[in-house]
Amino acid sequence: MAILLPGGAGYIGSHTAVELLNEGKDIIILDNFSNSKPEVLDRIKKITGKDFKFYEMDYLDKESLEKVFEENKIEAVLNFAGYKAVGESVQKPLEYYHNNITGCLVLLETMKKFDVKKFIFSSSATVYGEPEKIPLTEDCKTGGTTNPYGTSKLFIEQILKDLYKSDNTWDICILRYFNPVGSHESGLIGEEPKGIPNNLMPYIARVAAGTLKELSVFGNDYDTPDGTGVRDYIHVVDLAKGHVCALNKLDKEGQGLFIYNLGTGKGYSVLDMVKAFEKATGKNVPYKIAPRRDGDIATCYADPKKAKEELNWVATKSLEDMCKDSWNYIEKNS
Ligand code: WQD
Repeated sequence: MAILLPGGAGYIGSHTAVELLNEGKDIIILDNFSNSKPEVLDRIKKITGKDFKFYEMDYLDKESLEKVFEENKIEAVLNFAGYKAVGESVQKPLEYYHNNITGCLVLLETMKKFDVKKFIFSSSATVYGEPEKIPLTEDCKTGGTTNPYGTSKLFIEQILKDLYKSDNTWDICILRYFNPVGSHESGLIGEEPKGIPNNLMPYIARVAAGTLKELSVFGNDYDTPDGTGVRDYIHVVDLAKGHVCALNKLDKEGQGLFIYNLGTGKGYSVLDMVKAFEKATGKNVPYKIAPRRDGDIATCYADPKKAKEELNWVATKSLEDMCKDSWNYIEKNS
């Protein structure tokens, strides 16, 4: 029995593939390389010393997807095949809704047809909108998303809740990621944003590498200890391990719809991140203070207690690991 990973060549998918293979699981990756590269597959094999099946295809292609289910015994699906650039989603809402929502529907319909009912969904802390309270617990209100990317995550969560209500033999786990950063310690796989990065850590790493001149710190007048935005940065390897724990829970207990925050429970400001990166790498990160970015909130971090209690999962990597590993990937791959 295999675990299917649509989007498994991407940033979070590839790290999760490594952790699943390390646990002795059999995996199948589907990817159309729209935001990833073919060499990632060899690198996953190099890190783990294990082989797996791969299909180059779009997960919206129902016919090809059905073939994958016909040719293999699939026990669970972890969906990583979503578009994820917040700014781009504002420019291309139809593409984002189509790829993220229709893609997920095609996947769920195909799973239903083949009676595969174990599903893990990559959601995001962005579904909480303006946080009702800090730290965020899973029962905090959701909604008020400010871009189509975030709204697509919110809609898919609702689709999954409705699906489970209609048929409680599904086993569904919704994982709300906070801010994933870093890369595998080998430096073989990592984050490869197209063009100028939007997210803080890849931007800092490119300033340190000299590819970009300086970081713009978006606002220093928030109600936070140093005035800059506070987020819950989580090492992508910790995040990947969270998926293994979620899968173990569904294997053991099954029959439920579960929602977990995957975060560290610690908040760091933009300036904390700059200082930590400089300390961990010995590199200089010049920055200037710029106006606030539209749609940003002051503070967002998780209460990760539920994942600890029910999944037996905690993030173990430090901010120093996150900075060192982000830098290691840039150094090895540029
Ligand atoms: C972090 C902090 C910025 C860039 C977004 C999505 C979320 C998830 C992760 C996935 C904020 C500040 C940033 C820069 C800066 N999505 N910043 N200068 O906004 O918390 O979350 O990415 O793929 O759904 O909403 O992450 O890394 O963009 O920003 O000052 O050049 O860094 O204002 O305070 P964010 P981020």
